[in-house]
Amino acid sequence: MTNSPPYYRDEQITLLLGDALQQLRTLPDGSVDCIVTSPPYYGLRDYGTEGQYGLEASPAEYVETMRRLFAEARRVLANDGTCWINLGDSYVCSPKGSESKTDGLVGRSNHLTTPAGSGGKNGGGLAAKQLIGIPWRTAFALQDDGWFLRNEIVWHKPNAMPESVRDRLSNRHEHLFLFTKSPRYHFDLDAIREAHAAPDRKAGARAFRARDLNHQRTATGAYTGPDARGRNPGDIWEIATRPYPAAHFAVFPIDLPLRCIKAGCKPGGTVLDPFSGSGTTGAAARQLGRKYVGIDLNPAYHDLAKGRFAQGVLDFDATA
Ligand SMILES: C[S@@+](CC[C@H](N)C(=O)[O-])C[C@H]1O[C@@H](n2cnc3c(N)ncnc32)[C@H](O)[C@@H]1O
Repeated sequence: MTNSPPYYRDEQITLLLGDALQQLRTLPDGSVDCIVTSPPYYGLRDYGTEGQYGLEASPAEYVETMRRLFAEARRVLANDGTCWINLGDSYVCSPKGSESKTDGLVGRSNHLTTPAGSGGKNGGGLAAKQLIGIPWRTAFALQDDGWFLRNEIVWHKPNAMPESVRDRLSNRHEHLFLFTKSPRYHFDLDAIREAHAAPDRKAGARAFRARDLNHQRTATGAYTGPDARGRNPGDIWEIATRPYPAAHFAVFPIDLPLRCIKAGCKPGGTVLDPFSGSGTTGAAARQLGRKYVGIDLNPAYHDLAKGRFAQGVLDFDATA
């Protein structure tokens, strides 16, 4: 395959225009250290570009698209690299966009819901109103394909859009999976530790008594108290979504890729987003002094990203 010239390149950023799978095929083995991405969700959104993913006829076809794509991404990832994939779920719903009838899918959470017909065509045999479980179906397929699944992170959105549903709970989270190519990989926990919560005096006293009991029970007698460098942030991340008026599609908040890159990309390494969109992952990589390779089908999105990089706008003003 002949490599077409990059859509944009400077010493830190490379933007490639075209289908993610085809563009990945042009990249050398092991040439990126970290992948942070949010693929088009299943049946949710029409990006208006021929060849876009997410509009497959069934969940199984979507999962196969993702498996093939990430198999190629695995070749491009360094052996000690990490791959962070953000995925949201969908319900089987009616052509009018309600969950209560038949045929078609509706997206949810902070995205616009998409009337069926512009999204996936069916739930692959699932009846209307079923939650499809796309994130886990995709995660299992990647696991079966050779990826090491290391974390299921729940991205909790405290400001998620309200939903007008009356017979189920509204959705306030998405998934972020951490995959690796090998059992041993670069992971800098210290870079993302959180401050310990300051205990109130009564709770502190209770914790001290519990700690004391534990101390008596341990075989070695050694007490492993809180780490002075801070605590592990855990697998539930509360991060508010931020509006980005310039993009009419789902943009994840920069705090998400910032945390993934701090932990999962070695200093000076290269971060890849095969679904770059407005370049949020690139902005985070740039802010953290990593290189960035972004792929997208749509030149207008690369232009948005270039604008962000050029202005040095590394984050959005949520109040704008
Ligand atoms: C959920 S958006 C990514 C948003 C991005 N995280 C951001 O913060 O702006 C998904 C992106 O995938 C792109 N896309 C869809 N199908 C694609 C394909 N086959 N190859 C490459 N990009 C594709 C869309 O153009 C869109 O920009």
